[in-house]
Amino acid sequence: MKEKIKGLLKRRNAIILAHNYQPPEIQDLADLCGDSLELSIKASLTDAETILFCGVTFMAETASILCPEKTVLLPRRDAGCPMADMVTPEQLKAKLGELPSMPVVTYVNSSASVKAMSTICCTSANAVQVVNSLKEEEILMIPDRNLAQYTASKTNKKIHLWDGFCPIHENLTAEDVLKVKDKYPDAVFMAHPECRPDVLELADAITSTSGMIKYAKRSDRSSFIVGTEIGMIYPLKKANPDKKFYPASENMLCPDMKKITLEDIIKSLETMEGEVKVPEQIRLPALSAVQRMIDISL
Ligand code: 13P
Ligand code: SF4
Repeated sequence: MKEKIKGLLKRRNAIILAHNYQPPEIQDLADLCGDSLELSIKASLTDAETILFCGVTFMAETASILCPEKTVLLPRRDAGCPMADMVTPEQLKAKLGELPSMPVVTYVNSSASVKAMSTICCTSANAVQVVNSLKEEEILMIPDRNLAQYTASKTNKKIHLWDGFCPIHENLTAEDVLKVKDKYPDAVFMAHPECRPDVLELADAITSTSGMIKYAKRSDRSSFIVGTEIGMIYPLKKANPDKKFYPASENMLCPDMKKITLEDIIKSLETMEGEVKVPEQIRLPALSAVQRMIDISL
């Protein structure tokens, strides 16, 4: 199957971009594995004609926003992100009625229509930088309340929260972490900013998924507890073969991130089915929010 996919990629002048939570066999095939920020930047820079996205809808939409001239394929159109669904354009409009002219910092884990109503986007890798780049002192941050609360703790700005969260990261409790810390007392605890505040209080490092890979690489420590989706253990081990990685909880599995299979990739490249295309009237305002984020992150 891998050989077949390689042949199809050539035929379609396509590349595979895969998120760090994707299954190992997909990560091994990808031209780039990364966090949301790295994947957006790569999508904006590639000269391939087709981008086959192995991730979830908001990631493929972001690629389509950045590269309208390319074909963006998501081999499983039902791979979504429950957190992205926690804010709709109607809900945001109502909120902005209460907070008129408030700048909106929108986590990329959101729909293209919500991005289109936003001042600037952010990812887990650059949220603090993005918030600090704005001249306003008061900001609405959507949809992840945990990322917003973490960002608020790192800036002097007043941040209004939205009541969204990632069900997978929200599942991790401080009790879970303390149990694993008890078992591996010498391990460093790395947590994703989507985790709850009491979990983040226990963390030695709070960073994006790719940030965890870099942190573990640079660290002189040899064992790490990983507070994010369980798929992250694979790229961490791959990049740091001499170090040990333990999940903070075995229950942190994102079903949407595991939907795409090698068979789906073959089918999508053969038929060019699964195209994600953002309509121009949404794409243009969404592009300004995404591009503004990329410009301050490069
Ligand atoms: P990263 O951008 O840190 O990879 O996070 C994406 C995501 O969906 C986390 O749940
Ligand atoms: Fe969305 Fe959470 Fe899955 Fe990431 S892990 S895609 S935030 S549901």
